[in-house]
Amino acid sequence: MDCIRGKHIVLGITGGIAAYKTATLVRLLVKAGAEVQVIMTPNAKEFITPVTLSTLSGKPVISEFFTANTGQWHSHVDLGLWADAFVVAPATASTLAKMANGVADNMLVTSYLSTRATVFAAPAMDFDMMQHPSTLRNIEQLKSYGVNIIEPAEGELASHLVGKGRMEEPEKIFDTLCDFFSRSQTMKGKTMLITAGPTREKIDPVRYISNYSTGKMGIAIAEEAAKRGAEVTLVLGPVDRRPSHAGITIIDVESANEMLAACESIFDHADIAVMCAAVADYSVANREDRKIKREKSAIPNLELVKNPDIAATLGRAKQPNQILVGFALETDNEASNAADKMERKNLDMIVMNSLRDKGAGFGTDTNKITIFTKEGDAIRYPLKSKNEVAADILDAISNIKHE
Ligand code: C5P
Repeated sequence: MDCIRGKHIVLGITGGIAAYKTATLVRLLVKAGAEVQVIMTPNAKEFITPVTLSTLSGKPVISEFFTANTGQWHSHVDLGLWADAFVVAPATASTLAKMANGVADNMLVTSYLSTRATVFAAPAMDFDMMQHPSTLRNIEQLKSYGVNIIEPAEGELASHLVGKGRMEEPEKIFDTLCDFFSRSQTMKGKTMLITAGPTREKIDPVRYISNYSTGKMGIAIAEEAAKRGAEVTLVLGPVDRRPSHAGITIIDVESANEMLAACESIFDHADIAVMCAAVADYSVANREDRKIKREKSAIPNLELVKNPDIAATLGRAKQPNQILVGFALETDNEASNAADKMERKNLDMIVMNSLRDKGAGFGTDTNKITIFTKEGDAIRYPLKSKNEVAADILDAISNIKHE
């Protein structure tokens, strides 16, 4: 298995019965050529011995900040930076809560906070603990930090209750890591420009015209592209969220004209541009520099002017070696509108979603897309999380052949 050969993996083991399965995980990883450094929480040692894990990994297990008898200090920072992937398996409710809230009271969570590596957590706990609102909230929080949750399987639990909560099998965790490392190479060397979020068009210093875009889809694409090794610049309209991947360059913009200027300054160097932003169609020509007063003035007439079409502008400048991808959010005549946009804006591919589909569109965590290619193919996908949709979009981009 070459996907994992030479990779540095920190495996954090916490105190759950599934800890016994980590011996198999360490064995699989080491056999495939990875270097594995095990960190155990004090409670984990009640479930599996450090001797087993240090023997299998070929490295002393770390559990405390110091080795008691020698006073040797273990650097959580060095460990965090050494890791190519940081895996917490099993992840108990308590460790997930600590990770979600930055409670660094042991070597494992301290190293987690110090790492720049991609983090995976494989929760394992009893059925009711798994369903508890605090656990669900902590998992959502961790996902928002970019932690990949390896969902627990359903089955018989240590309590003999049956339900969701069993740590995923070591083989599946191994496959997840293998997929991650395989994909992390596919966009290496590619430079990517992504627009996301809405734009805001000022009416006066306190009011604006905008739309409901939250930037979720574009940020998910930026995250996934960065994970695959692309050098990503995200031109981001005014939204609350930020990508968690440290490698993404963000250019914050407000108006369509600012977004266009930012895109034009970098498009020359981009191999791929994905236009995910919901650019406002109009801006206000008679914008006021002072707040328009309600009391005395007559009802203001807003004079609107058309905003530049950023995708179409880049489409005109596009070189044969560049790929330009657009989005189409439609409410009717979806397929023909999307095809028309692809032609008009000189796109290589267009991702269509329909507001008629439940779970698609602004602000949702899910999306349902159809991808139209220049060759006339229409690929329909089922409703998926926006992260999964981002992966589908990047897979489709990777399949585009240059003319
Ligand atoms: O024409 P329409 O707004 O439906 O086109 C949507 C696609 O064009 C999206 O990819 C969007 O990001 C892009 N677009 C743009 N600049 C505009 C309007 C749309 O880049 N002014």
